[in-house]
Amino acid sequence: MRKKVNIGIIGCGVVGTQTALVLCKKKSLFSSYNGVEYRLRKACDIDWNQKRQWMPPEQLRIRDYNEIIDDPDLDIVVELIGKFQPAYEIIKRCLESGKAVVTANKFLLSKKLLELIDLANRNKTYLGFEASVAGAIPVIKSLRESFAANRINSIIGILNGTTNFILSSMTEKKQSFQDALLSARRLGYAESDPSLDISGRDSAQKLAIISTCAFHHPISDDDFLIEGIDKIEAEDIDFSSELGYRVKLLAVSKRMNDSISLRVHPALIPKNHMLADVEDVYNAVYLQGDLFGSSLLYGEGAGGRAAASAVLSDIIEIGKKISAQSHFSEHFVVEPEISIFPVERIETRYYLRFTALDRPGVLARVAEILGKNNISIASVIQKKENPEHAVPIVMLTHRAVEKNIRRAIEEIDKLSCIKKTTRMIRVEE
Ligand code: HSE
Repeated sequence: MRKKVNIGIIGCGVVGTQTALVLCKKKSLFSSYNGVEYRLRKACDIDWNQKRQWMPPEQLRIRDYNEIIDDPDLDIVVELIGKFQPAYEIIKRCLESGKAVVTANKFLLSKKLLELIDLANRNKTYLGFEASVAGAIPVIKSLRESFAANRINSIIGILNGTTNFILSSMTEKKQSFQDALLSARRLGYAESDPSLDISGRDSAQKLAIISTCAFHHPISDDDFLIEGIDKIEAEDIDFSSELGYRVKLLAVSKRMNDSISLRVHPALIPKNHMLADVEDVYNAVYLQGDLFGSSLLYGEGAGGRAAASAVLSDIIEIGKKISAQSHFSEHFVVEPEISIFPVERIETRYYLRFTALDRPGVLARVAEILGKNNISIASVIQKKENPEHAVPIVMLTHRAVEKNIRRAIEEIDKLSCIKKTTRMIRVEE
C-alpha cells in the first residue's frame, strides 16, 4: 500500500501558495518517484481575501495555525510566515509533538539553527531549511550531504538576488539605484522591507546559516561585519570597471586556523573571477573544501517558484524518511573552540575614493597618511581637472590591514582639502 504523508502549510504568501499549488498539481509525479503519497491537508493564512496566483481548495483553508500544530494526523508542517515570533513557537511546538518542519525562515534560523536541529533530533523528527538560503540552489544539501566528508575552508557567496539585480542594473543598464530597486520590487525579489536586502542583513542571515552548517559552530548574524550597498554610487561602479573589477555584494566566511573570518560587504572582484558574471537575480556560492577542491553552485536565488522548489525538495526528502519509519539523526558535531576572527585584522586590498580639492600637494598629503599607516598604493586615477571644485581621486591599495585603513581614512577625512567622506570598498581577489 502507498504510504501517505500529510502536510500542513502555515503562511500562504507567494512561496506558500506556489508550494501548495505544486503539491496539488504534481501529486502523482511525486508518488511515482518513491511510492509516497504527499497530501496537502491544511493551508493556513490570516487573510484569504488577498489576491493570489492560485487558491487552495476551500476545504483545506484555515485561519488558525493551532489547528495545524494540534492536528495529530499531520506529518510535516511547512512554516512560511517568517520573522521570529510566532514562527519560533510554532516550530518548537511542532517538533516537540514529533512533526517534521520545513521552513524558509532565515531570520529565525540565523539565530536558532542548532537549537532547532537538536530539538528535532531529540524528538526523532526532522528540520528542513533548504529554502532559507539562495532560493532553489541546493547549498544546504550540498554542505550536509554531498560535501559531508570535507573540511570546508571557505565560502564566498552572492546570496541576495535583490542587491545583485540592483548592482547588475547599475552596471549594465546604467540605471540609478532607485530605479533598479523599483524593478526588483515589481518582480517580487525584494523583502517586504527592502532595507533588509540593501543593508546586507538578508545576506548575513543566510551566511550565518550556511556557515553554521559548514563550520559546525553556532554562528549568528550578530557576530560579524555587515555593510550594505546603499553607499555605492554610479561612479564607484565606473571606476571599478576601469580598474578591471565588478562590484558585488559578497558574503564571505573563511577558516583561519582556529577562527572563522565572516563578513558581508560590497566588494570589487576581478572581471575574470567566477562570481563576476553572476548577474541579475541569480545567486552563487563558491565553496572550497579539502577533498572536492572548489565548486560553484549557481541558480535563481529569489522569487516564489525558486523558493518553492527548495521547500518541496525538503518535503519530498523528509516524506521518504518518514515513510521508511526509521529515524536518521542529524549528526551535528559542534566545534566549540572556534572563534570569530576580529574584523580589524582582515587583510585585503582596498579601493578608496577621495573627494578632494584639485590643488598642489593634496595627493602628497593623502599618500603620506596612507604611508604612515603602512598602506601602499598600487594605482591612482584622477580624471577631472577642476581647480575650483573637489574632484574624485581613486586609489587601489596593495594588501593592507583593516585597522590601518580605518585609521588612515579617519585622519584623511579631517584634512581641509577633503570635501566628502571617503568611500572604501574591499577587494576580493
Ligand atoms: N529578498 C531575498 C533576495 C529573497 O533578494 O535574495 C530570497 O531570500
